[in-house]
Amino acid sequence: MATSQQNFMSPILMLGLLILLSLNSTDAKVGVCYGRLGANLPCPTEVVALYKKHNIKKMRLYDPHPPTLLALGGADIDLMVGIPESDLPHLAESQGHADAWVAANISAYPAVKFRSIAVGNEVNPSSSAYSRFVLPAMQNIRRAVCGAGLGNRIAVSTSIKPDLLQKSSPPKEGEFYSNVTWYVKPIIEFLRDENAPLLVNVYPYFAYLNDMENISRGFALLQRGCGVVLGGVYYDNLFYAMLDAIYAAMERMLGNGPSVMSGVGGPGLTVSETGHSSRGGGRPVSDGDGDGDFSSVENARIYNNNLMRVVKKGTPMRPGIPIEAYIFGMFDEDMKPGPEYERHFGIFLSNGTRKYGLRFY
Ligand SMILES: *[C@@H]1O[C@H](CO)[C@@H](O)[C@H](O)[C@H]1NC(C)=O
Ligand SMILES: *[C@@H]1O[C@H](CO)[C@@H](O)[C@H](O)[C@H]1NC(C)=O
Ligand SMILES: *[C@@H]1O[C@H](CO)[C@@H](O)[C@H](O)[C@H]1NC(C)=O
Ligand SMILES: *[C@@H]1O[C@H](CO)[C@@H](O)[C@H](O)[C@H]1NC(C)=O
Repeated sequence: MATSQQNFMSPILMLGLLILLSLNSTDAKVGVCYGRLGANLPCPTEVVALYKKHNIKKMRLYDPHPPTLLALGGADIDLMVGIPESDLPHLAESQGHADAWVAANISAYPAVKFRSIAVGNEVNPSSSAYSRFVLPAMQNIRRAVCGAGLGNRIAVSTSIKPDLLQKSSPPKEGEFYSNVTWYVKPIIEFLRDENAPLLVNVYPYFAYLNDMENISRGFALLQRGCGVVLGGVYYDNLFYAMLDAIYAAMERMLGNGPSVMSGVGGPGLTVSETGHSSRGGGRPVSDGDGDGDFSSVENARIYNNNLMRVVKKGTPMRPGIPIEAYIFGMFDEDMKPGPEYERHFGIFLSNGTRKYGLRFY
């Protein structure tokens, strides 16, 4: 019986099964960032229970917060953990410091599914005093992770903002500012050598608010049927266009030709933050917060639901390669500084109720 079944498993069927399996593994690509800058947020145990209840299989945490790591023990939740930039000089200074960091903050929690470490978040190459420590800290942390026997399980990277790009449209002409080459180039060479993705915080929300003249609302909200042709390539949505601009800029910086641009083999990207605020000043663009009515619960619902769909496919430059992305964020964070919209990116209310319908699948 077993033998005859095996005979039916033709190579083509096996290939089909493999493809199905790999498609299935993309089903839980979207995670959620757990920012904790809110005064009335639920405790970490309740937050982890909320991730489980809503089938959220990935979490981004901004620092190795012990109560959250304890709550995550045994949970089927992949974790991206951050290292605050103020720790970077210490970690860049010696391998011993990085080894101690990994021992205390990673190895001490064997029941947590650590998947990546974000060494710094949006460190600005020119204005941050920490920028020169990012790469050496990444290198030391990577060696520490490998030394702890976790090299195959945990990637080490850092997250950037797309505003390091001097040119982003059309996407294939994406290019970094030349004044950030000293910072970005060695980082993406390191990531290429380690086969790890660059982390990028990608907000069509802000791109639209900065250029409503040239970007349609539907394109920014990833709505169906709102695509445009950019540089001769059809773009279904602004999220794909922003990602491809970064892919092109990376390829250009690594000195690769256009042949690499349309396929696998180039450096990868993970979207370490994306999302849409549900509230701003509510005033017209010309004054105040300048977000008009774009920041609304309805638009946040539309954007994040569309995101679930578009990450399943690749961008025009990485066709068929699903995108790993993290929605910012779990809750509204009333202690965040800046304009009103900064405090309303949450997908849940602080009592654990969903702000709007959003299904993780
Ligand atoms: C663990 O991580 C925290 C936050 O990055 C850091 O302040 C602390 O020094 C780390 N522990 C060790 C032993 O390095
Ligand atoms: C790089 O130069 C551009 C153009 O002068 C400037 O707008 C940008 O702020 C600079 N960026 C950095 C990180 O120095
Ligand atoms: C819209 O695009 C044009 C042409 O590229 C550009 O000159 C203009 O500055 C853009 N508008 C905004 C608000 O950025
Ligand atoms: C959570 O808070 C919202 C808004 O205040 C309220 O409408 C909802 O009923 C609350 N849910 C629970 C479970 O308490």
